[in-house]
Amino acid sequence: MREGQATAIHRADYTAPAYWIDTVELTFDLDPAKTRVLNKMRLRRNTEVAAQALRLDGEELNLARVLVNGQGTSFKMDGNQLVLENLPEGPDAFDLEIFTTCNPAKNTKLMGLYVSNDSFFTQCEAEGFRRITYFLDRPDVMASYTVTLRADKAKYPVLLSNGNLVEQGELEEGRHFAKWVDPHKKPCYLFALVAGKLVAREQRIRSRAGHDHLLQVFVRPGDLDKTEHAMNSLMASVAWDEARFGLPLDLERFMIVATSDFNMGAMENKGLNIFNTKYVLANQATATDADFSNIESVVGHEYFHNWTGNRVTCQDWFQLSLKEGLTVFRDQEFSQDLAGSPSARAVKRIEDVRVLRTAQFPEDAGPMAHPVRPDSYIEINNFYTVTIYEKGAEVVRMMQTLVGREGFAKGMKLYFERHDGQAVTCDAFAQAIADANPGSELAQRLPQFKHWYSQAGTPRVQAIGRYDAEAHTYTLTLSQHCAPTPGQALKEPFVIPLNLGLLDTQGRELPLQLAHWPQAETGTRTFVLSQPSETLTFINVDSAPVPSLLRDFSAPVVLDYAYSDDELLTLLAHDSDAFNRWEAGQRLALARAIKAITAAEAPGTEVLDDAYLRAMRQVLADPHLDAAFKELVLTLPSETYLAEQLDVVDPQRIHAVREAMREQLARALQADWQQAWEVNRDTGGYRPDPESSGKRALAGLALTMLCLAARHSGDTVWPGKALQRFKDAGNMTDRFNALSALVISGHELAVPALARFHALFKNEALVIDKWFSLQAGAPDRGGNVLGAVRQLMGHPDFNLRNPNRARSVIFSYCSANPGAFHRSDAAGYVFWADRVIELDAINPQVAARLARALDRWKKLAEPYRSAAREAIARVASKAELSNDVREVVTRALAD
Ligand code: BES
Ligand code: ZN
Repeated sequence: MREGQATAIHRADYTAPAYWIDTVELTFDLDPAKTRVLNKMRLRRNTEVAAQALRLDGEELNLARVLVNGQGTSFKMDGNQLVLENLPEGPDAFDLEIFTTCNPAKNTKLMGLYVSNDSFFTQCEAEGFRRITYFLDRPDVMASYTVTLRADKAKYPVLLSNGNLVEQGELEEGRHFAKWVDPHKKPCYLFALVAGKLVAREQRIRSRAGHDHLLQVFVRPGDLDKTEHAMNSLMASVAWDEARFGLPLDLERFMIVATSDFNMGAMENKGLNIFNTKYVLANQATATDADFSNIESVVGHEYFHNWTGNRVTCQDWFQLSLKEGLTVFRDQEFSQDLAGSPSARAVKRIEDVRVLRTAQFPEDAGPMAHPVRPDSYIEINNFYTVTIYEKGAEVVRMMQTLVGREGFAKGMKLYFERHDGQAVTCDAFAQAIADANPGSELAQRLPQFKHWYSQAGTPRVQAIGRYDAEAHTYTLTLSQHCAPTPGQALKEPFVIPLNLGLLDTQGRELPLQLAHWPQAETGTRTFVLSQPSETLTFINVDSAPVPSLLRDFSAPVVLDYAYSDDELLTLLAHDSDAFNRWEAGQRLALARAIKAITAAEAPGTEVLDDAYLRAMRQVLADPHLDAAFKELVLTLPSETYLAEQLDVVDPQRIHAVREAMREQLARALQADWQQAWEVNRDTGGYRPDPESSGKRALAGLALTMLCLAARHSGDTVWPGKALQRFKDAGNMTDRFNALSALVISGHELAVPALARFHALFKNEALVIDKWFSLQAGAPDRGGNVLGAVRQLMGHPDFNLRNPNRARSVIFSYCSANPGAFHRSDAAGYVFWADRVIELDAINPQVAARLARALDRWKKLAEPYRSAAREAIARVASKAELSNDVREVVTRALAD
């Protein structure tokens, strides 16, 4: 922070490092206020680049000593870099020894070495290692690490680092030590250490190949009863990567450690993953189904990085999606494979697409829009984005669609044959997938396909269908367009795989036959749109078809097709593609919402028509549909998604219309909700599997709807039932859903229920986060939420320094509650600016994420727009601002 040299780094400026670091021996004397770090490295010049000084990165370090080959040496400081100019000439290796100290207890940024709950943790990605010692802090410098930890034995009985424990023992004055050797070379961002009072759940496993491994999940004493699910997820991850991609665990020991102070979700340090407690700790009493499923995917994600990220890493941080996009794709596939049934797979796909469309599409249309492989950045921490992650995963998914599942596995194999142990680029990955599949659409169009890496923005695909009854032909004209994004005015056409099928008006799948095909084929076909516009002509079509386009969301695009209600009702009722059935329901709801939002008159209570309500009733009653799928169909598009469909956004109006739709759906389907509640309310003994969690989700939605309907009629039966369920629920999902139903419907029983919930769980930090977040995210009624949020910040349990707690109150309000945040009196924005500034002094990464809550201010209607600009400008006018926040607000204000 406050270094102030906010200069942009450009991808085109990449040069290889001037030195290699072959080995690193680190010795830590751990002490909260003053930790001493001895760093002995063996370096050599990279003879492929011009001879030059060695420039080592360092941040907030106290430098005590520098020795070259055991001798004192001259050095200078240039900003944050330690510069050594008089190093031995020639290609021979030499020793460099650096001794520094740092202050982990004062490290509120949670980057580098820090203290949390009296234990030590590290976070080095992306550039945190330089806060531990002077180093070439860049991912293409890979070294072998030996780490010795020394600390007070009573306070820090457990001492962990990457790799294998080779020695441990006692020292004087109650101290002890442990020595770890990592058998794999790694970039410094994968370094980790942990020291503290921790206990572990342990599991020994034997791999398919017959190797034995020890798996450990470390937590604070008292949390062991919440580690079973994480351990099961880890075992499933190991088995899956071997089975699906032939990638084994390459370590004798694999450790996961949980910490309650963590900026992100989790980190893939080699053999020593460090996790936010939120993504480790779960039992049925404290965690919801969503928590269980997040734990499964995050444990999988970090484990899968062991190959995609660690064995093959990134050449530079512009290539971040090489590991993140690919690993998100892998964790999505893992969760789908574990889910099993086609319906459960579709549910997972819908959830993933919902994230993409409500978070990534807005990013791609806003001031922070950037390509999956960015060309420049000021602060790399700002580029751990939904574009790098979620869109990056979609790009990998499109490759799989273009080469097939088997072809993709072959491509992965070739990627590791070529690049194991290297630091590479996104190009290397795409090239390997293409080369393993010569003749595929990907191989044929690789340079054009790579526009997905270089061009920002969400392409729109327009489809126009025309049926010729006489000729029995159906022509589908597909065209693509991508709007300009900051710095990229013109876009080249993308390669867009479009999965499609045709239905007849009864909803039966029609055989597909293009003019040049010898025979018809039934089912989904993938067409590759690569031109600005292309026309497909289907022959032997006996009646006007309903096109089912972009099945399974085969490309990250917006699809425009002027569907009639009848066509959408057909798709909703009959499409063989579950994703498009859901999508049809969303389109029906969206059309009605947009009409009411943009109407001249104020929104009434009757936004939904009989046709829509009848269709929803049918879905709810359909015995062939899974509960999880019903819950998704019956959930209206979010306020954020609705806002993205509009050029000018009045958040209050959107909120009012969506609330009106929800209440109407609640009232009109009252009997059906009651039925859904009765059928799904009891799921027996708790298991977080897709089927029973789907039932709990639908029962929860039904309960909320019944309480909303009761709010209208004044009936007290359903709020009473919700309170009863809240009290006697056997698991957190049911309990929290019941509490939410009371809070969302604004019933007075919410007040005692919230108090009771807090009292029950006052010692469970993750549950208290839910308690805060539910209140800060509650529907606004007469502007009450901001006052509640201010009160919550004064609660004794509130702590701005703990990222989970800060997120549970401030982000739940500013980023996840648009109807309450966007106030005509601008008080929400004033609150936001104050919190951004306040947080920036503590933790710039968290502050910069909050700063992005107003990314889309330019779309706002007055008076919101001017008030938002003023709030952003107030933040930007601060002289003392981190690079993180400065980059976000500067981009937001740019023309
Ligand atoms: N490598 C990241 C963690 C990370 C992100 C470290 C940014 C430093 C800066 C890790 O693999 C990751 O992606 N974690 C995600 C969760 C994941 C399931 C998408 C996270 O922390 O949000
Ligand atoms: Zn990751």
